[in-house]
Amino acid sequence: MPKKRVAILISGRGSNMVALIAAAKAKDYPAEIALVLSNRPDAAGLARASAEGIATEVVDHTAFGKDREGFERALHTALEERSIDLVCLAGFMRLLTPWFVRRWEGRLINIHPALLPDFKGLDTHERAIAAGATFHGATVHFVVPEMDSGPTIVQERLRIAPTDSADTLAARVLEIEHRIYPQALALVASGHVKMIDGACRRDFS
Ligand code: GRF
Repeated sequence: MPKKRVAILISGRGSNMVALIAAAKAKDYPAEIALVLSNRPDAAGLARASAEGIATEVVDHTAFGKDREGFERALHTALEERSIDLVCLAGFMRLLTPWFVRRWEGRLINIHPALLPDFKGLDTHERAIAAGATFHGATVHFVVPEMDSGPTIVQERLRIAPTDSADTLAARVLEIEHRIYPQALALVASGHVKMIDGACRRDFS
């Protein structure tokens, strides 16, 4: 089976992007990273991707003002021009409209630093501590129009320590993220996991 062509969408430092690029170097990994795309020209991850020899592109959302769909049309065109099969959101800080999400349904995945459906949205580590949660972690899921709500592909948890601050917890969760995002992408790229009728279907036959 040919490797799936993957684009990683970032807005910042790109540590999950680096983990995906590293995993995709393995000969038998079912995906290749064909593009790193940022909505911010100053995203630190762009230089890290270039250093790895990966094509990069910037679609600056500020150039589109309030025209969200115009921004997403530009994203969509950039992805099509590179014949992208799958899109990984990795710290991509723009909400995507149903227009874009429907076009990439089943081929668009995201990582969220919490045990979804708990703690959707931002500041997950602070909120998990404030809520007195026992467990916390990270989730890779298919993207659906409603934010942080698609079916889970891989989730891994840790126990919150009494000594954890939001920062230490973020660092511990990030280690999980770097492990499970490559696993989840491999599951989707190999066809073992699919989103069908809004649910995750697993087939290892
Ligand atoms: C990660 O915690 C990810 O889960 C969240 O944003 C952060 C991005 O970090 N969506 P990085 O850019 O991958 O280092």
